[in-house]
Amino acid sequence: MKLICFTALSALPVLAVPRDRGEWRAPKEGDVRAPCPMLNTLANHGYLPRNGKGISKAIAVEALSTAINWDFSVVSPLYDFAQPTNPDPNATTIDLNHLTTHNILEHDGSLSRQDTFFGPADVFHVDTWKETLSYFTTPNIDVGQAARARTARVVTSASTNPSFTFPQIGSYFDYGETAAYQFVFGTWNLDADDIKDKISTPLELVKYFFEFERLPFEIGWKRPQNRLTFDILVNFVIETQGLTLGQMNGTIP
Ligand code: HEM
Ligand SMILES: *[C@@H]1O[C@H](CO)[C@@H](O)[C@H](O)[C@H]1NC(C)=O
Ligand SMILES: *[C@@H]1O[C@H](CO)[C@@H](O)[C@H](O)[C@H]1NC(C)=O
Ligand SMILES: [Mg+2]
Repeated sequence: MKLICFTALSALPVLAVPRDRGEWRAPKEGDVRAPCPMLNTLANHGYLPRNGKGISKAIAVEALSTAINWDFSVVSPLYDFAQPTNPDPNATTIDLNHLTTHNILEHDGSLSRQDTFFGPADVFHVDTWKETLSYFTTPNIDVGQAARARTARVVTSASTNPSFTFPQIGSYFDYGETAAYQFVFGTWNLDADDIKDKISTPLELVKYFFEFERLPFEIGWKRPQNRLTFDILVNFVIETQGLTLGQMNGTIP
């Protein structure tokens, strides 16, 4: 397994790593950003190009591996979904603002962004985020709270946005995004019997990340020790979908 990963990585072109990598800096005039708080964060720290432009698969794979221990098996398919957001059909890179195109990957019912119908879907929006936060009622979020927050945002959008849409790919990404922040900021306990106990995520890390688009090193976060693979992510998403159905039909408290 190690050998396979090593081979995949060494096949990538050598990437120049800028000197100021790691340091957080706000985006400058002309820099572009995404509706994704993590890609924005990694650009703000210089793991991705600070201007948000010209991101190839090789750059994305290296950045997410270095900064948050995400495996090629998960970043490669994610990148492949993102490539068509570049309006140039022959392009092999993306700019972060390409990801904002509605209903390719960007979808309604986001946790911290408005629906396109109401306003810009790329930038952080405090009232939307407050609704999400209202479901996080303990210092550590369990998977049940994270699932309810996701459901609530979709239900609110579906009932207030006359142009609400939720294509299947958007829905799948939506569950993936709720999984993603838990995997990056939470403590994994994937052998737990109850899905609700599989990750426990400090609320203050999640708030800091969403609100500042910055890695929360100064309040104690460290790069995850466990490497996130595609199988781990997909299994967690499938289990969260089951949990969500159970919460909605009242069989899971
Ligand atoms: C190549 C990798 C990635 C791509 C192409 C990508 C793309 C996107 C896009 C297009 C959205 C907007 C969806 C929407 O809310 O309308 C999004 C949201 C999101 N992404 Fe990423 N993302 C990537 C990696 C990550 C990683 C590694 C994390 C880890 C924390 C992450 C966490 C999130 C979260 C939490 C949201 C939801 C934001 C919200 O609902 O307000 N993403 N991503
Ligand atoms: C994309 O590549 C094809 C094949 O090389 C070419 O015919 C086409 O004009 C290119 N399209 C653009 C927009 O560059
Ligand atoms: C409720 O949802 C759960 C999880 O999907 C399912 O196993 C169960 O059969 C459902 N129960 C009812 C009464 O619909
Ligand atoms: Mg959205």
